[in-house]
Amino acid sequence: MAKEVKTIGVLTSGGDAPGMNAAIRAVVRTAINKGLKVKGIMRGYAGLLQEEIVDMDGLSVADTINRGGTILYTARCQEFTTAEGQQKGAEICRKHGIDGIVVIGGDGSFKGAGKLSALGINTIGLPGTIDLDIACTDYTIGFDTAVNTAMEAIDRVRDTSTSHERCSIIEVMGRNAGYIALWCGIANGAEDILLPEKYDGDEQKLINRIIENRKRGKRHHIIINAEGIGHSASMAKRIEAATGIETRATILGHMQRGGTPTCKDRMYASIMGAKAVELLVAGKSNRVVAYKGGEYVDFDIQEALSMTKQIPEDQYEISRILVR
Ligand code: ADP
Ligand code: F6P
Repeated sequence: MAKEVKTIGVLTSGGDAPGMNAAIRAVVRTAINKGLKVKGIMRGYAGLLQEEIVDMDGLSVADTINRGGTILYTARCQEFTTAEGQQKGAEICRKHGIDGIVVIGGDGSFKGAGKLSALGINTIGLPGTIDLDIACTDYTIGFDTAVNTAMEAIDRVRDTSTSHERCSIIEVMGRNAGYIALWCGIANGAEDILLPEKYDGDEQKLINRIIENRKRGKRHHIIINAEGIGHSASMAKRIEAATGIETRATILGHMQRGGTPTCKDRMYASIMGAKAVELLVAGKSNRVVAYKGGEYVDFDIQEALSMTKQIPEDQYEISRILVR
């Protein structure tokens, strides 16, 4: 039976994402509005284990909705993946009177949240990652900003690529997930997109298409390569050698994780932050807030973690048709 929550903690964990501050702000202000106390846990689970815990009030989150990154900082923490680390974390929560926690992060962070829940600390997860690779939700905090940042950068590379009649390989983030690459592929009109979920490693096919497109009169050839495939610089060298077309590689890197969040990220993150507190107040635990089929919903953490997500086949096919 879930218990009543009086003091909640909030932390951000894993890779930061624009919009996390909007979520933190919504958690803090909704909680205060409902008469709860709020504590900020710095540096994710690492900060929890170090007892880096600060009191927060409405003013602690003033001037943050427009800021990228996370005001609570974030970290990865090996110790928290152990049973001893999780036990210590739950004890520290009890010591500080924290009986509910909102964890903003990705699947790894949700695994930690599930453990805290099993140890008696009511926990709610919010999906925060630029990668969009959380199966239970159609939206993750930070994806919209990151994909817009990448799109604008790729437009700029395209200008110079066309002027020099070059081939350009642009590497976007996504260690295991090709969503940023897919969306930019369509939005930037890339000639090729290489997704970890789809790429068969056949570089000769890629080379043949570049040559064929040049013969058809295309002045550039933009290849968006997801980080999960990587090796953009060496790929560029091989393509230049095989095609005779000057080829450059650009790795966009962490610039995609920073910057002022878009309206969508501020809006969705704010609603999700408020929903997380509502769930805690209703005595719920071990849930993840998601946006699915046009609605805000919540799932059991283990159920959410067992779901799988595929690159939508129709979107991938459309991306291929639109560049021919
Ligand atoms: P993300 O949350 O973005 O998927 P990570 O996979 O790096 O990022 O996970 C963030 C943190 O969550 C890890 O550093 C670790 O502290 C915690 N975590 C990950 N996996 C587990 C696990 N199986 N059990 C407990 N905590 C975990
Ligand atoms: O947060 C997701 C992500 O940006 C992935 O796309 C990327 O692979 C990873 O984090 C990089 O993490 P870091 O450089 O912070 O270790």
